[in-house]
Amino acid sequence: MDRHPLVKKVLVDKVEIDSKIDSLANEVNSYYKNKKVKDNTVVIIGLLKGCIPFMASLIKKFDFQCVIDFMIVSSYGGTLTNIHEPKILHNINTDIKDADVLIVEDIIDTGITLNFMKDYLEKKGAKEVKVITLASKPNKLKTNIKPDWNGFEFGDEFLIGYGLDYQERFRNLPYIAICDTDKLNDWEW
Ligand code: IMP
Ligand code: MG
Repeated sequence: MDRHPLVKKVLVDKVEIDSKIDSLANEVNSYYKNKKVKDNTVVIIGLLKGCIPFMASLIKKFDFQCVIDFMIVSSYGGTLTNIHEPKILHNINTDIKDADVLIVEDIIDTGITLNFMKDYLEKKGAKEVKVITLASKPNKLKTNIKPDWNGFEFGDEFLIGYGLDYQERFRNLPYIAICDTDKLNDWEW
């Protein structure tokens, strides 16, 4: 299929992403390898919907026992700017009291979403909350949160692909690209 006209420049392709996920998974595997965790089970919590491609690849490479669950936390409302405080739209069913939790997220931008999530899960009684992100934009960080594992660092551009969306589209792209925001005025799907 031809590239969509809103794809301005591919920053990392599928091969690079696959190999990055391999090395991230190796690091996470060694971290949990000899760690005592409740019921020998790590609780992995993905932030929908952006976590889907990353989390699907990542967990297949984990060699420790785990359960997965999901949350939906809104902070963007599908536009390019952060418009309100995070709100939980869908919560986990898993009991995380005393559990070791690993949050999986597509990208950390201001850090507001992950800061809120980490705080929330700690208050729910998690013993430890770790964070893994496919990408981050260090220049835009507004909070103290730092992912424990991060794949790629990017600048300020608005990105699409591999989970990242513009108006819910492009999550399926097998690469991460800069979105051509100059074309967005009057854009019709
Ligand atoms: P934060 O709370 O500002 O860190 O925002 C994190 C959320 O914003 C992520 O879960 C993404 O859904 C979204 N986001 C941040 N940057 C981008 C981007 O470049 N493209 C698409 N979504 C983004
Ligand atoms: Mg998201």
